[in-house]
Amino acid sequence: MPIYDALKAQDPDIYAALLGEMHRQVDGVELIASENYISPAVMEIMASVFNNKYSEGYPGKRYYGGQEFTDKVETLAIERAKILFKAGHANVQPHAGAPANVATYFALLEPGDTVMGMDLSHGGHLTHGHPVTYITKIFNFVRYKMKDPETGEIDYDAMRTVALETKPKILLAGFSAYPRELDYTKMKAIADEVGAYTMADMAHIAGMIAAGVLKNPFDSGFDIITTTTHKSLRGPRGGMILSRDAELGKKIDKSVFPGFQGGPIMQMVAAKAVAFGEAMKPEFKVYAAQIIKNSQHLAAFLMKNGCKLVTNGTDNHLMLVDCIQSFGIPGGEVETTLDKIGITLNKNMIPDDPRKPMDPSGVRLGTPAITTRGMKEQEMEILGAFILQAIKHRADAAKLEELHVEVREFCKKYPVPGVKIS
Ligand SMILES: Cc1ncc(COP(=O)(O)O)c(C=O)c1O
Repeated sequence: MPIYDALKAQDPDIYAALLGEMHRQVDGVELIASENYISPAVMEIMASVFNNKYSEGYPGKRYYGGQEFTDKVETLAIERAKILFKAGHANVQPHAGAPANVATYFALLEPGDTVMGMDLSHGGHLTHGHPVTYITKIFNFVRYKMKDPETGEIDYDAMRTVALETKPKILLAGFSAYPRELDYTKMKAIADEVGAYTMADMAHIAGMIAAGVLKNPFDSGFDIITTTTHKSLRGPRGGMILSRDAELGKKIDKSVFPGFQGGPIMQMVAAKAVAFGEAMKPEFKVYAAQIIKNSQHLAAFLMKNGCKLVTNGTDNHLMLVDCIQSFGIPGGEVETTLDKIGITLNKNMIPDDPRKPMDPSGVRLGTPAITTRGMKEQEMEILGAFILQAIKHRADAAKLEELHVEVREFCKKYPVPGVKIS
């Protein structure tokens, strides 16, 4: 448990903000699908002297001296990642998920080459080719979609047709807001037919893949997996690129450094090693399985109570509620209403959303963070009821305040790891 005496004495403004954020996390419910709580051990190593060290290069091949211990932690992070994800090679230096994806594109593509990824309103991520990102000035992005948002099944026939026409160099699996499993084997077959690399961005589902409760794309012969380390994997903020074999790994290493980044953020690399160590323990399997149980239970509860979910359920940690169909209000209004009672989630596009990205039709909910706090199926029903009550009484400030007090009281039973406010 960190002690913040020096910070408190030196910088009261930042200390006050830190205290406020600690209270927000402890007193509220986190349903943002991409967020989680790190363990005290991960938090300790993040705030450590590894911050002070420059380590450009890779273990055994650095541009600066004094690397005895940085080499040790980076090697451990790499070895643990390889075991966890059955990878032939791991690069643990990407500063976050977006740089991991960009470094992968530059490792495998020439300017003008095509990447085929999931349509953004069907669940894909900005880094899979949204026009606002710079990568779209360099590479060409084409899309695949769900055949039917009622089931969530991807239209693999259309994927194949577009792939044959556009000849992508990368076929990209992965998403930020898709509640179903992908058929990696079908995607690999399509990629092989057109000579494309297969890349999975498993930023959201890495924890469940590490635990073996969701499919590992490497089992279907995928070439590359990119991920963040801070979502369901419950590690520090950061990214990682895994390759099927060492040959591809060499291209990735050159692309990350010196191609794209400078020195690695060594306290984060060390923290990744600690988090991977935690993910290798049997308890993590139980945790990851519970994330999905909770998600499916919450989805079933919401549907039973009249909510319309995109794909009518979930196979993973997240779900998307169509708020227009469920409540007659847009996602943004649901987000602000729930903020008032201490439940945090985010507004989100639904497939082919007729509304704008800043004012979409849906909200996205996820269970990794609340599962870390020890919540199980019965708590999903309590949370579901809070959500529905708040939306029903959204115009009644007194009722919302009453619910806020109840949420705060409820949260007291579920400590946030590493955060104790005295
Ligand atoms: C699928 C996917 N890829 C990449 C990213 C980018 O990660 P970061 O925010 O760490 O850059 C995200 C973040 O939400 C994501 O969901």
